Amino acid sequence: MPTGTSGQGPAAAAGPTPAAPGRQPWRAGDSFLSMWRELAPVGRHPDSGGYRRYAWSAADQDCRAWFRAQAEARGLTYETDRNGNQWAWLGDPLAGDAVVTGSHLDSVPDGGAFDGPLGVVSSFAALDELHGRGVEFTRPLAITNFGDEEGARFGLACVGSRLAAGQLTVPDAHRLRDADGTTLPAAMEAAGYDPGTIGPDPERLARIGAFVELHVEQGRALDLTGDPVGIASAIWPHGRWRFDFRGEANHAGTTRLVDRRDPMLTYAETVLAARREAELTGALATFGKIAVEPNGVNAIPSLVRGWLDSRAADQATLDAVVTGVERAAREYAERAGIELDVVRESFTPVVEFEHAMRDELAKILEGAGDTGRPVPVLGTGAGHDAGILSASVPTAMLFVRNPTGISHSPAEHAAEDDCTAGVEALADVLEGLACS
Ligand code: GLV
Ligand code: MN
Ligand code: MN
Repeated sequence: MPTGTSGQGPAAAAGPTPAAPGRQPWRAGDSFLSMWRELAPVGRHPDSGGYRRYAWSAADQDCRAWFRAQAEARGLTYETDRNGNQWAWLGDPLAGDAVVTGSHLDSVPDGGAFDGPLGVVSSFAALDELHGRGVEFTRPLAITNFGDEEGARFGLACVGSRLAAGQLTVPDAHRLRDADGTTLPAAMEAAGYDPGTIGPDPERLARIGAFVELHVEQGRALDLTGDPVGIASAIWPHGRWRFDFRGEANHAGTTRLVDRRDPMLTYAETVLAARREAELTGALATFGKIAVEPNGVNAIPSLVRGWLDSRAADQATLDAVVTGVERAAREYAERAGIELDVVRESFTPVVEFEHAMRDELAKILEGAGDTGRPVPVLGTGAGHDAGILSASVPTAMLFVRNPTGISHSPAEHAAEDDCTAGVEALADVLEGLACS
């Protein structure tokens, strides 16, 4: 099994581990590797080695320019839809029953190189592979880059696909603001896009017959089974909740402990409660982002705002963990004289990918492969544009092995051989779906 687990530092994180010496490198992957190298420096922070490709930022604009250049270099018809998602079409975009593949190019703060870009780069590489195979396309094919999948800037994930699918209303989208108070429409406008067009795009979605997203696995299931590629079964229900703890700002050097109303203490107790509730229920609960006011080293805070990300295999468990965390937070807050507001900022119900599509992918991959083993089918706690689109379009996902399972980190990684296997698997799937 090619591993590529060595050298997990930032330098290694930017690129797949080279194929082992003596192996035949990059059958399907030559174009993948050159695209990967081109994209690798864009938005990469020199200190952390992680990516900061936030929606509508300069780095995001550079990624978008890269996408457009890839489309044009292949003679594909390039367009940006009304929500700022990018499309590259082979065949008539209006013909209907299109096969669409792609992912996203934005990142979490100091994200890895693979979450998102692996799917987009593999899509172009799979198309190159299909041209190399000399296949005839019987359906239109499109490659997409969905905008703002991670929600790192405006707090809501999958903004581009949610808007298209009508799962985010226009007024709610207009209310989204980044940490500096810039609204989503203002950010789009500053990047040269017309925010006046945003909204549901049912005609576009109706022209898609199948959507397939390839993504790096964000766990170690494939590493444990020893398979380079798997198929997604389901996405756990998940959401984000904002907890605002309000106390009293005061002098850190003169205010007696008994006189303080310190929201940081209540927040800290709540973080521990989240861990406890998650352990009790078998769910996941994470406070990974915090904002403090006035944020002075010598001031007791007046406000601590913490965001809870929680996910579980089923809705009842998710409800139980979030209710438990909120109940604990309210008890602590009351005891300490802290005001507490809890707001659910986003929620995505469980996604069960269409069984017919899943089975079709498995049949294609098992028919093309030589292992004689079934392709693993796995669930995930990570959100994806595919999950959003699955409510409107027959949708499936492919996962590529991640030897450490690490994701949303500069250390996120996949081996070069596995990336090639992913490109080949995606090409097989697209050939099975879109070619004679
Ligand atoms: C997206 O990667 C998410 O699951 O938060
Ligand atoms: Mn992600
Ligand atoms: Mn992703």
